[in-house]
Amino acid sequence: MRLSRYFLPTLKETPAEAQIVSHRLMLRAGLIRQEAAGIYAWLPIGFRVLKKIEQIVREEMNRAGAIEILMPTLQPSELWKETGRYDAYGPEMLRITDRHEREPLYGPTNEDMVTEIFRAYVRSYRALPLNLYHIQWKFRDEIRPRFGVMRGREFLMKDAYSFDLDKEGARRSYNKMYVAYLRAFQRMGLTTIPMRAETGPIGGDLSHEFIVLADTGESQVFCHKDLLDMPVPEETVDFDSDLEAFVQQRTRLYAATSDVHDAARFESEVPEDKRVTARGIEVGQIFYFGTKYSVPMKAVVAGPDGKEVPIEGGSYGIGVSRLVGAIIEASHDEAGIIWPSPVAPFDLSLINLKKGDAKTDAACEGLYAKLTAARKDVLYDDTDDRPGAKFATHDLIGNPWQVIVGPRGLEKGTVEAKNRATGAREELSLEAALNRFA
Ligand SMILES: Nc1ncnc2c1ncn2[C@@H]1O[C@H](COP(=O)(O)OP(=O)(O)O)[C@@H](O)[C@H]1O
Ligand SMILES: [Mg+2]
Repeated sequence: MRLSRYFLPTLKETPAEAQIVSHRLMLRAGLIRQEAAGIYAWLPIGFRVLKKIEQIVREEMNRAGAIEILMPTLQPSELWKETGRYDAYGPEMLRITDRHEREPLYGPTNEDMVTEIFRAYVRSYRALPLNLYHIQWKFRDEIRPRFGVMRGREFLMKDAYSFDLDKEGARRSYNKMYVAYLRAFQRMGLTTIPMRAETGPIGGDLSHEFIVLADTGESQVFCHKDLLDMPVPEETVDFDSDLEAFVQQRTRLYAATSDVHDAARFESEVPEDKRVTARGIEVGQIFYFGTKYSVPMKAVVAGPDGKEVPIEGGSYGIGVSRLVGAIIEASHDEAGIIWPSPVAPFDLSLINLKKGDAKTDAACEGLYAKLTAARKDVLYDDTDDRPGAKFATHDLIGNPWQVIVGPRGLEKGTVEAKNRATGAREELSLEAALNRFA
């Protein structure tokens, strides 16, 4: 991408309304634009990051055996009346009236609808276990939308729903998501800690929130220090095996959000030097709720003995748009964002220090063409801005590498490569730069 033809609306001033660093940086670096309270347009580099996060989530869900579908944003209220949630959900639900005086709603979550899909087609336990997920916009009319995409009203969520014949099956399905979540977040450069949590309007009696520790987080959390550096399962983990031992290795250590925190247990189970009391950002939550939806909606299957039983369900959410903010909270410095490579908008910034200088232009064009041909995502800064302004822009937007090309280096046949995270700079020949980054 040539920056001279791109759309990168960065801001010089720090927007006054933004209270936390990720929100400030998302506005300054031109990732999002607020269109209404808690409702954002995604601008080009923000959209690129969002798509990369979405893709990592998709890959890890698929690896764990979940199957992608796409349900609509608008849902008929009839389904929600079947489960009793139409009245129970409260003012966070956006209720709409259409021209036929019907009352659809903008979905805040999809348990009811996915159960309707399930019961329409599945009759036998042989189709189980089944896990269906989608990545779709949600609307919750939050009373206090704030911190940019962290607590929006319209936000992108991955939500998965598991169906099993019995409790034991449901536990296995829950464990698969537990492991898939740890993997997905790690691939985005995040350390997350699963913590026991309240189930809220989803219902049920087993739940974990996946928490990223950060001072600006909205949740107060308590956990055992050893949970901070536990290894996450490899790509080769067998999701069909029993993951219980792995899950228990973590769940035996204390970790809870304030809603379910038990101070006496925390103090008796965790030695003083291992007690972590901190703020955290909830990037995902998993729930086991059993027959809460299958009973009222009559989602039943015939078991091996031919008898019909209501299925055992769970649901599993990831805040895809919130993750953009959470990753920035975890990875930035004074100058701007520092993207972990897997979610960076571009693999590298190619910075032309003297646009119009024939040798510099030729070197940049050559690198740009070859790196692009090697399928690298390159943001080529071919603008007329002064070097200082260019450095500030590329530090702000945070691509993992900057390849800096100017007449002085080219006299010696070299360019400079700067690592955004460490600030380390290295002089390389043009050819070495190509080999390194192609
Ligand atoms: N208002 C919101 N804005 C952005 N992301 C949200 C919002 N509400 C929830 N999420 C994300 O979606 C995930 C699943 O939501 P869920 O746990 O059902 O909601 P809640 O945390 O409000 O009970 C959360 O872990 C969070 O990452
Ligand atoms: Mg939650």
